[in-house]
Amino acid sequence: LEQLQSAELLHEPDGEPWSRVIIEKPFGSDLASAKELNTLVGKRLSESQTYRIDHYLGKETVQNILVFRFGNSIFEPLWNRNHIDHVEITAAESIQVEGRGRFYDQTGVLRDIVQNHLLQVMALVAMEPPVSFDADDVRNEKVQLIHSLRPMEMGNVVRAQYRGYQKGEGVAADSRTPTYVAMKMMVENWRWQGVPFYLRAGKGLAAKETEVSIRFRSIPLCLFKKDNACQPVQPNVLTLRIQPEEGISLRFVSKVPGDDLSVGNVHMDMSYAGAFQKPISEAYERLLLDCMRGNQTLFARRDGV
Ligand code: BG6
Repeated sequence: LEQLQSAELLHEPDGEPWSRVIIEKPFGSDLASAKELNTLVGKRLSESQTYRIDHYLGKETVQNILVFRFGNSIFEPLWNRNHIDHVEITAAESIQVEGRGRFYDQTGVLRDIVQNHLLQVMALVAMEPPVSFDADDVRNEKVQLIHSLRPMEMGNVVRAQYRGYQKGEGVAADSRTPTYVAMKMMVENWRWQGVPFYLRAGKGLAAKETEVSIRFRSIPLCLFKKDNACQPVQPNVLTLRIQPEEGISLRFVSKVPGDDLSVGNVHMDMSYAGAFQKPISEAYERLLLDCMRGNQTLFARRDGV
């Protein structure tokens, strides 16, 4: 940034932020270094020139979280502690560190995935409706949600490392860097009080699967009996499949055809590939284009980071 400035590449003629800088995570390695970096950025660039990129925000399925929540009238009334039991946000990867050992060993899953991608997704799932889709209206609501997170308690966090990680190139032989984390986050606000958000991420897992799953509350009593025994009724689950097989599915209970009253689970399923006959573009394409267009909606703001 200092060199860009001394080469006079950070000009803002007439206050127009026509030169823009994209910054990618991790934003420092702890609170002190993150603040130092923010101060450095603040001295060289105006906020309107600063684009803190998080490629998850460029994913169609992540952007669709807000459209799904606020473009349909039937979900938002249920989107709170009265109807939702818990929320799970999972980013599982089957790949390992794949030649990025040196970077990854200093970063670990918390700074590689959780503080950025998962918290961004969580903010979109849990935030209040913005007054418009202008950059700051959306980012104000996200920051408000982040403000209401209860500080993490170590008793609610599990960390692990996949077997063989320490043998990877660039990884310390005695490394304790976590490649997996599962944690419970609580949001201290009117909408979400008492509803756990379970965040999970890891590499070297059985499958690649990123999804948000909203688990609704169970029905209040045992209504469907068979042979005098209670038939368990699974609660409704709404799954937003971020990737792969991008789509949305809702699990609900249905009568199983037959001459008795048996109940079972069925799914209503929407797939992007089936619904829209066009390929989903790369997240970075969209974000680089937005940066050139001067649209900061899908970029993190200083206070959010
Ligand atoms: C990057 C991380 O930000 O996201 C990588 O640095 C990770 O470690 C990648 O593999 C995952 O992105 P995606 O789009 O494949 O979920």
